[in-house]
Amino acid sequence: MTDVAFQRCISPSCATTYGVEEVRVACGACGSLLDVIYDWNRLGPPTSFDFFEKKWSRRYEPLSLSGVWRFYELLPFAPREQVVTIGEGQTLLQPSTGVGKYVGMKAGRVYLQYEGLNPSGSFKDNGMSAAFTHAHAIGAKRAACASTGNTSASLALYCSVTKLMKAVIFIGSGKISYGKLSQALDFGALTMQIAGDFDDAMARVKEISSQLGIYLVNSVNPFRLEGQKTIMFRVLESLRWQVPDWIVVPGGNLGNSSAFGKAFSELREIGLIDRVPRLAVINAAGANTLYELYERRGLRWSDGRPDRKITDRYYGELDANDKRASTIASAIEINRPVNLDKCLRALDVCQGVVREVSDQEILDAKAQVGAGGLGCEPASAASVAGAKLLVSQGVIGPDERVVCILTGHQLKDPTATVAYHTTDQEQFNKVLGSRGVKRAAFANRAVAVPNELDEIIKAIQLYS
Ligand code: F0G
Repeated sequence: MTDVAFQRCISPSCATTYGVEEVRVACGACGSLLDVIYDWNRLGPPTSFDFFEKKWSRRYEPLSLSGVWRFYELLPFAPREQVVTIGEGQTLLQPSTGVGKYVGMKAGRVYLQYEGLNPSGSFKDNGMSAAFTHAHAIGAKRAACASTGNTSASLALYCSVTKLMKAVIFIGSGKISYGKLSQALDFGALTMQIAGDFDDAMARVKEISSQLGIYLVNSVNPFRLEGQKTIMFRVLESLRWQVPDWIVVPGGNLGNSSAFGKAFSELREIGLIDRVPRLAVINAAGANTLYELYERRGLRWSDGRPDRKITDRYYGELDANDKRASTIASAIEINRPVNLDKCLRALDVCQGVVREVSDQEILDAKAQVGAGGLGCEPASAASVAGAKLLVSQGVIGPDERVVCILTGHQLKDPTATVAYHTTDQEQFNKVLGSRGVKRAAFANRAVAVPNELDEIIKAIQLYS
C-alpha cells in the first residue's frame, strides 16, 4: 500500500483515520462510512489533463489501457505493481439526438455515458477493479457481496479471470434477472440465494463477512468508490475536459452518486477543474428512499451532521408497514441505501436534486435509448426518464449540457425488454402490467407471418 493514502471517517466531528492496509467498512469509533484520502501535497498530482491524454499512446501497457487505471494518479492507494485490471472502463460518451429530443433538449446537448461496455456489462467493473486491487494487496482469499445482480456478476468475473480469490455472492431469491444470474453461475461463484430481498442480503453479508473474515466488495467498501470516480474522469476526457452542466444518474445503493461527488471535489481541490456540475440522482418510484428523505422530508448533509431522527423515523415506518422495494428496475430495487450519507454530501457539493420516476417512465425511456442503438437495462434508463422530468419542470434548461449515465447493458435483463415489445398481452400483463405499466408507446412489435414466400414479401412491403 502507498503511504500517501489513508482512510478517514466521513463525519467531520469524528474524522478518525485508519491506514489503507486496514479492512473496514465503517469507522470503528462512530460507525460512519469511510473515505480514502490522499495527501495531495506530498503526491504532487498532475497539473493538467494533458498528462492523462499522453497515456493514450501507451495502450499496450495494461494500466494505460484500463479506463480506471489510466487515472492512477487520482486514486493512488496501491503501488502500480499491485493493481488488478482486466481492461475495464473502455466505455463511450455518445451525444444522442433521439434521446435529446425525447428529453426535450436542444440538439447536441444530451450525452449518454455507456458503461454497458465494461467486461461484465455494467459500471461495477470500475469499482470492482479498485476493490479487488485492495483485497489482493491485503492478501484476501475470498470476497463477498450482496447484489441485485451486477456487483455479483462483476465480482464473479474478476475472480474467474484472475483466479486470485473465490467469490461468495448473496442474492435475494427471485430478485435477480437471468442475464445477471447466468453470469455469476457461469463464472463459478458460490451463489447463495437467500429468502428475502437485496436489503436482507446486504444486512446478512455484512454480518457474515465480518464473522468469517471474508473481504466485502459492496460499495460500503471505500476502495470501490475510488474506481467509480473514473467514470467522471472519462466523461470529462470525452468532453475535452469541459465540465458538463448536469450529471444524471440512477440511484440504488448510492455508490455512483457518492463517487461522482468525491471525484469532482477532488478535481477542484487539486485545481484541475474550477467548477463542479450539478448532480441529479434518480430513484425508481418503488424504491424511493433518497427521494423521500431528501426532497420530501428535507434531509441534508448539514456539514456532516445529517438529522438521524428523519432517517430513523422513515425506516421505522418502512418496517411498521413491512414496505419492500418494488420496481421493474431490479438493479435499484433497494430501500436502505448503504451510501446514503456520502450521497447527501455529494448532493451538497454538486447542488444536487433527487427525483423519482415510475416503471412506465423508465421503460419508455429505455425504449428510446434502445432505438438510438445503445441498449441499456431498465435501471439505467431511470437517468433518461429523470432528465426528461427535470427538463419538463424547468430545472434543467434546454441549452444545458447533460450527461445521463447508462449503468448497465441491455442484455442484462431481456425479460423486461421483450415484455415491453411483445404482441402477447398475457406476457405484457404478467411482467409489466402487474407493476402498473399500462402501455408500450415505443414498442417495436415482431410481425407474425406464415412460412410462405409471398406472404413474407407482402408483409415486408407493408411494414417497411
Ligand atoms: N444501475 C445498475 C445497472 C446497477 O446495477 C445499480 C446497482 C445501480 C444502477 C445503482 O447504483 O448503487 O451506485 O446507486 N446495482 C447494485 C448491484 C446494487 O448489486 O449490482 P448505485
